[in-house]
Formats: sequence, C-alpha cells, structure tokens
Amino acid sequence: MSFPLVRHRRLRQSVGIRNMVRETVLHVNDLVQPIFVAYGEGVHNEISSMPGVYHFSLDTLKPEVDEIVALGIPAVLLFGIPETKDSIGSSAFAEDGIVQEATRLIKQWYPDLLVIADTCLCEFTDHGHCGMVHTFERDGQMHGDVINDASLELLVQTAVSQAKAGADIIAPSNMMDGFVQAIRIGLDDAGFEHVPIMSYAVKYASAFYGPFREAADSAPQFGDRKTYQMDPANAREALREAESDVLEGADMLMVKPALAYMDIMRTIKDQFDLPLVAYNVSGEYSMVKAAAMQGWINEKAIVQEMLTGMKRAGADIIITYFAKDAARWLQER
Ligand code: PBG
Repeated sequence: MSFPLVRHRRLRQSVGIRNMVRETVLHVNDLVQPIFVAYGEGVHNEISSMPGVYHFSLDTLKPEVDEIVALGIPAVLLFGIPETKDSIGSSAFAEDGIVQEATRLIKQWYPDLLVIADTCLCEFTDHGHCGMVHTFERDGQMHGDVINDASLELLVQTAVSQAKAGADIIAPSNMMDGFVQAIRIGLDDAGFEHVPIMSYAVKYASAFYGPFREAADSAPQFGDRKTYQMDPANAREALREAESDVLEGADMLMVKPALAYMDIMRTIKDQFDLPLVAYNVSGEYSMVKAAAMQGWINEKAIVQEMLTGMKRAGADIIITYFAKDAARWLQER
C-alpha cells in the first residue's frame, strides 16, 4: 500500500491524535539537577558561563533544594568547590568535605530526595586532574601522567566517605581503569552494599565541559584528559568501556556528553540492559542559554526537543542544568 491510501498526516491532524500516538514522553522522574556547593558563607554566585546556575555555600543552599523538591525532581547531583586543594585531592574524601557536609544537610532536610555524589578528584586536586599524577618537566614545560592504580584507592575513600554522609548513589566520573570494581568492593567492605553505582561509563574528552571547569574550578593545570577520557571519534571503544563497567558491578551506565553522542546512547541502550543515563553537559547548556539570550532561539521549545531527543535515543535518566526549567514546563502542560 502506498499513497493515496497511505497518508501519514492522518495521525498528525490534531493535538489529541498527536498526543495519543506519541512514542517518547519526558517525565519529571527522568530528571537530575546538578548543584555546585562551595566552601564559605553567604555564597550565591552565578557562574558567568552558565547563566542561571549558581555556586551555593551550605547556608544559602536550602531555598535551591526547596525549589527542586517542590518541582518534584527526584534527584540532585552534587559537585564541590573546596576550601583547599592539594596534589592528592584530600578534601574529596575528608569527612567534613564540602560534598559530604552538603549531603548530610540535604538528607536531613529531605530524606526522600536522592543525593547522587560525583566521585572524582579533579575539583579537589591542585593540578586539576582526576587522579594522582606523576609530574615531570620537559623542554621547560610541565607534564604529568595520571597514576591509575594508586588513584583508585583515593577514589574508593571518596566514595565511601560520600556513602557514609548519606549519598544514595555513587557516580564515579574519573575514567580510571578498574574504577567501578574498586569502588564496588570498597563500598561493600564498608557495609554499603546497597548503594548503587551510576558509572560515567562512556565519557569523552570533550570541549563541551568548558563551562563546567569554570564552575568547578577544575581545569587541568597542565596537559589534558585525553589519556583517560575517550576519543570522540570512537564508538566501538564505548562498548568495551560499558562492558567493563557492567562486569565490574555498575548499576547504571552513563554516556557523556549527550547531544553529539546520541548514536552512542542508542548503541549502549541496545547492547546492555542497565538503565541508561544521559549527561546534558555544561557546554550544551551554555550554548542554548547564549542563543536564547540573544533572542535567536526559543529556549523552552529547544530544551524540550533536546531532552526528548535524548530519551528517544535511549536515555532513561537525564542529568541536566535545565532540570528545574523542564520540570516547570512539564507542570504547565
Ligand atoms: C569530573 C566531571 C566533569 C564533569 C562532570 N564530572 C568534568 C570533566 O571531566 O572535566 C562535566 C560536567 C559538565 O560539563 O557539565 N571529572
């Protein structure tokens, strides 16, 4: 059968029919709102490259969390800006670290709001790398290699301290080999066998993280992350990364960034049965904000289309700086 018997437009002729045959529906339960918690008092500073996203100190955090809960968003993802940084990122795993303190507070205020802790060292190391580094000088320039296996111990300590503080989900984003296994064993040994791991399984070395590195003050002081984050040109490697994490005990798999990697999301979704997380990263947020502020695009329509596209590509969960906006728009419907 073909035209004129077949007419695709029959199912598009009214809002009622379009709603009825819609395949992909965004829901507030899909959303995770990232929060940047900073050391200090009275901090409520907008991040210049991410309009609408703020640094909060612990004493200014409550209204933000109130709003997230009121909108029905089920989870937040915490990033920390510590008072001090050192070569091993000690404040990442300090009992009174900024993420640990924020987690305790939020769980006190809202026991049912899920706190996801990003487990990485880059916000806490003075060199800005995601693990310990071995540094050396060559031709008058600083260089460094990340020390994979020794860094795992620090990441385990970080994850355990986050779980102790009450984190509901551990989200390791450091891309060291073996990080999921190390953290799973570490959590289990510490009695946190019920705490799931949301693994940043497929994380590309991406220019889309630019604004985040301003927000988290985590830009590498030398070199880049290309020896541990993935080459954007590679798709088969994503399967190997995801498979390792599944075998090592990951409970959820993430693909990051989102927009330029929709094909990777679909592949991972088709190959693995774990819930799939898309991270709609800082650069993706900032591009939309910048164009919207110029009046060049319709922000609300663009954001809904992007997030729906991520779901259509297979994402079950979407981490996005637009979570509050999206939740508000979903309520309006
Ligand atoms: C930590 C981490 C990064 C992001 C999330 N966790 C930065 C990076 O790898 O440089 C990026 C998030 C974003 O851009 O929104 N490793």
